[in-house]
Amino acid sequence: MRTLAVLTSGGDAPGMNAAIRAVVRLADARGVRVLGVRRGYEGLVAGEAEVLSARDVGNIIHRGGTMLGASRSAAFRTQEGRARALAVLRGHGVEGLVVIGGEGSFRGAHTLQQEGGLPVAGVPATIDNDVYGTDACIGFDTAVNTALDAIDRLRDTAESHHRVFFVEVMGRNTGFLALHVALAAGANEVLVPEIPTDLEDLVERLMTGMRQGRASNIVVVSEGDEAGGAVDIAAHVQARVPFEVRVAVLGHIQRGGSPSARDRILGTRLGAAAVEALLAGRSDVMVGDRGGETVHVPLSETWAHRRPLDTGMLPLMKALAR
Ligand code: F6P
Repeated sequence: MRTLAVLTSGGDAPGMNAAIRAVVRLADARGVRVLGVRRGYEGLVAGEAEVLSARDVGNIIHRGGTMLGASRSAAFRTQEGRARALAVLRGHGVEGLVVIGGEGSFRGAHTLQQEGGLPVAGVPATIDNDVYGTDACIGFDTAVNTALDAIDRLRDTAESHHRVFFVEVMGRNTGFLALHVALAAGANEVLVPEIPTDLEDLVERLMTGMRQGRASNIVVVSEGDEAGGAVDIAAHVQARVPFEVRVAVLGHIQRGGSPSARDRILGTRLGAAAVEALLAGRSDVMVGDRGGETVHVPLSETWAHRRPLDTGMLPLMKALAR
């Protein structure tokens, strides 16, 4: 194998740059050149790609976002778009593609492999942490810590004014981010899509806490909760309680910032593992982490199963929220 390509796709995630760096430098060490594709699949369809040297990926390991850019591409969803993408890759002599992103990005990689016979390897990267087959996705740890920093600040003002704060975090239709943030923040409540939310029960618990002398409350709401977003839920609660309610929607702030050590290490390990997998003749797999070991999971499994939320710590969180 003489030429590989790498792209980042879907929502950017802190640690993607560490993965790109590892792909380029490990391939370089093995005598393989790497084509960097700009703007994910959208850029691939448009032919936006250039060879990256080991030097080109210097000084990026500590940066958030992705130096290659990312996109959610409509053009790539068409057969014509994918045919153009394959032609671009063939034109550059690409013999293997590393896709850094989430499950949706892996579907795209799998289709390229099916339609064009191109060897592909996926590297899981999304702050949602919802990819089946890996314990962790690149970007999740940093996003948890970023949200935590915000909530620590909100606690100060919530306590000073005796208010209830509803803090909305991302996660799409999964509650991994919300649950881990709530546990680490010592939040009073967490609302996630995987567990039905009863708003009247929530009101009752908040009232009980206040009656028992709790001055403030932090309620972490996953953006995908079936009861609505933090704004709607807070309005519902405010109409039923005598204390003041406020809302903070953290939004894309959670996607930015310098990656944590954990995300840099995961990105580095999995980026390198993707190159090794392709060089060893593997294809159509995601490289993941299970119990600290690198594993190879068929791409199709990453969307065939929904990753279960690790709710085991919830009873403890509830017991400690006093
Ligand atoms: O998948 C990552 C994510 O940040 C989700 O948590 C969120 O729902 C979505 O992307 C936001 O997408 P966009 O950046 O396209 O608004």
